[in-house]
Amino acid sequence: MLFKFFLVLIFSSYLAILVLILARRLTGGTRSQSPTSLTSQSSEPSSEILIELRDVHKSFDQPVLRGINLVVHRGETVGVLGRSGSGKSVTLKLIVGLLKPDRGHIVFKGEDIISMNESNLLKLRKRVSYVFQRGAIFDFLSVRENVAYPLREMGITDEQEIQERVSYLLEAVEMESMGDLQKDELSTGSKKQAAIARAIANNPEVILYDEPTTGLDPIIGKSLSRLIRKLNKQENLTSVVVTHDLKCLETVADRIILLKDGLVHFEGDQEQFHDSSDPFVEAFIAGKRFDELPFQERVSSGG
Ligand SMILES: Nc1ncnc2c1ncn2[C@@H]1O[C@H](COP(=O)(O)OP(=O)(O)OP(=O)(O)O)[C@@H](O)[C@H]1O
Ligand SMILES: [Mg+2]
Repeated sequence: MLFKFFLVLIFSSYLAILVLILARRLTGGTRSQSPTSLTSQSSEPSSEILIELRDVHKSFDQPVLRGINLVVHRGETVGVLGRSGSGKSVTLKLIVGLLKPDRGHIVFKGEDIISMNESNLLKLRKRVSYVFQRGAIFDFLSVRENVAYPLREMGITDEQEIQERVSYLLEAVEMESMGDLQKDELSTGSKKQAAIARAIANNPEVILYDEPTTGLDPIIGKSLSRLIRKLNKQENLTSVVVTHDLKCLETVADRIILLKDGLVHFEGDQEQFHDSSDPFVEAFIAGKRFDELPFQERVSSGG
């Protein structure tokens, strides 16, 4: 009797261990902590607010932003849409501290970046990467050296560690075979992929993409959008993607913001965006000029 009891006990412990191992595998709990692993956090958006824009105003000759409010949660990808000149790039530059707002607050992890000194702003830019509209990479360096650059800047001197990490990053952006090429030898899409690999090299928390698919043919644009989605989830990046490309946002965005007249005109998930009966949203989706809509429709959208 006692023997049977022990047999059952041993068998059930064995089963429990097996289930635990399986569960860890499925949830990625066994993920490597090697230098090539960028982060080990979970890949779902959380309720933690990472970035917040509160009543942000910015004017140049004309007002561009007239009091925008925007929240980005950890692990989330927010897509920002708007007509040309609506202030999308300005919004990204404000988030990374390249521009200062005239009024309002920009808060990163609870700290207002407006009151940061240069040294703290430099630290912020290590946490928040910015992929510029033209996906710039250095033309005097190979792809491999471009991607290694931020690692060297971080002070990593172990060449093997650098090369392992670069190989991991090139693989992540599907450019394993292009490491030795120079900028001139790359297509526009590959330049953007290399710029993304470089932007995530130093393991940022946030990545800001300015028009990542603009200028690409629809097929390359689609595969780059998929790549961005994959990386954002795989590396648990929090990101803001500014674009005109609705197809790109369909693939990458958890939430969509539409700017109009310097304000957030619409905010919602993909379904709410596509089901919206707001005339400005509908016109945007249909690719129509809002000012060509009948007067009554414009009035009902606050335009
Ligand atoms: N440094 C600057 N000095 C003066 N005006 C600026 C500056 N940066 C942006 N602007 C102006 O602010 C407005 C918004 O510019 P922004 O680049 O944010 O537009 P956008 O929405 O990104 O447009 P696009 O879709 O064409 O890239 C534009 O009228 C632009 O000329
Ligand atoms: Mg822009």
